[in-house]
Amino acid sequence: MSEKKHRVSRRQFLNYTLTGVGGFMAAGMLMPMVRFAIDPVLKPKQEQDMVQVASVEDITNEPQRIDFKINQIDAWYESEEPRSAWVYKDESDKIIALSPVCKHLGCTVDWNTDPQNQNRFFCPCHYGLYEKDGQNVKGTPPISPLDRFVTEVKDGYLYLGQAKPQGGA
Ligand code: FES
Repeated sequence: MSEKKHRVSRRQFLNYTLTGVGGFMAAGMLMPMVRFAIDPVLKPKQEQDMVQVASVEDITNEPQRIDFKINQIDAWYESEEPRSAWVYKDESDKIIALSPVCKHLGCTVDWNTDPQNQNRFFCPCHYGLYEKDGQNVKGTPPISPLDRFVTEVKDGYLYLGQAKPQGGA
């Protein structure tokens, strides 16, 4: 091959240079726009930290179901999600807040609704049982205790945070 064929003409050189510079500038302008557009998707789901749910005066030694809502931001979607907790004061007046979500397959547990098992949480789906402190009763389907909400008392009101596992039993 002759050396002449490999030479780049002035027109080709200008074409390559302008295409390269143009592409670089376009990428520089587009990147922030793309980043801005997809940024919410890259962020983890955000939930409200602590939610005021009840006056401490109204909490008794008998578990009561409290329904509340939390603000949740998932990408562009902001919503109010319903939550529930079984709340009571234990023997030392400490407030306990348990998740009503059964640890077997996620049905909702009720307090004291099974006549054969007084003062226990009962899951009607597969007859799961939990003690008052949320510990699963051995020999029934659930294999771990009910999750427990993080609690905080401020100015006479109970605030609940995330429900966290209590550890296996
Ligand atoms: S879902 Fe509760 S016992 Fe199965």
